[in-house]
Amino acid sequence: MTDTTLDRVEPLLDDTALLLELEPEVARLYDRHAGMAQEWFPHEFIPYRLGRDFDKEPWTPDQPRLTGVAQTSFEIGLLTEDNLPSYHRLIHGMFGKGDGAWLNWVGRWTAEEGRHAIVLRDYLTVTRNIDPIALERGRMTQLQQGYDHASPDTLHGLAYVAFQELATRIAHRNTGRYSDDPVADRIMVRIATDENLHMVFYRDVLAAALKLDPSAAVRAIVDEVLAFQMPGAGIPGFIRKAAQIAKAGIYDLRVHRDEVLMPILRHWKVFELSGLDAAAEDARRRLAEHLAKLDQAIERFEERLVTSPIPRIAAAR
Ligand SMILES: [Fe+2]
Ligand SMILES: [Fe+2]
Repeated sequence: MTDTTLDRVEPLLDDTALLLELEPEVARLYDRHAGMAQEWFPHEFIPYRLGRDFDKEPWTPDQPRLTGVAQTSFEIGLLTEDNLPSYHRLIHGMFGKGDGAWLNWVGRWTAEEGRHAIVLRDYLTVTRNIDPIALERGRMTQLQQGYDHASPDTLHGLAYVAFQELATRIAHRNTGRYSDDPVADRIMVRIATDENLHMVFYRDVLAAALKLDPSAAVRAIVDEVLAFQMPGAGIPGFIRKAAQIAKAGIYDLRVHRDEVLMPILRHWKVFELSGLDAAAEDARRRLAEHLAKLDQAIERFEERLVTSPIPRIAAAR
């Protein structure tokens, strides 16, 4: 006899009911967000005095001041932000069925995200830190390929975006720090502040969902931790570039565990919740196993770092 109790467990609320139940809290969190978010202008962050016409003086590889992994990380960061049309499609698909506050959030979030690619591209173009033709070709490839994230339901989608916004926050912030350019650092601090507020919004919506259906929410959280991938994973050469970014310490497994997974899991009190159903308890066991394996992988990775020629980010995080 096979035990089928864990095979398929439906949430207490379907997506429509969940969106409806959460709407008042989403309205409150939207207002909180609007009160905390500061208006900012990409053009104020760009050193236009460095600009020269490309028709008179084309880009050449000796021009960038950013080199090595700093350049790679900016490229990945911008191409990831460039893919906003796909993220908008996904976010609208998840939350667009909801009313009022949900739609307000979809619009607000998309508009805020749009600034990130603007400021990054303007910075990289004016400073000539990356070949603008390669960047534009990369953007074309990236957008034609698009991005998809198979979320079976709203709870999974919320869990993913909470982790993803925090991962992006840390990756941007560390990219700025690694660049050793105060202009780049200031831009990345600014973007990271936005990503943090996005994370806080999604984290707190899911915290409300945890009260409505703790077992389904825990299962969704665990599924998303176990399958987590950065949204830039489809960029050509991503695996090689992400490995360099990890060796540089901009975003490695330790950062992922200590600065992304654990703070959010602790905030949700995932390991302290009681009264979960059997499938959620099983999910929690798998999460604990996953974290233990992650510890081992971090150890192995850090042992191998000794032979890495890539300079690491300065220790203070
Ligand atoms: Fe962003
Ligand atoms: Fe964001």
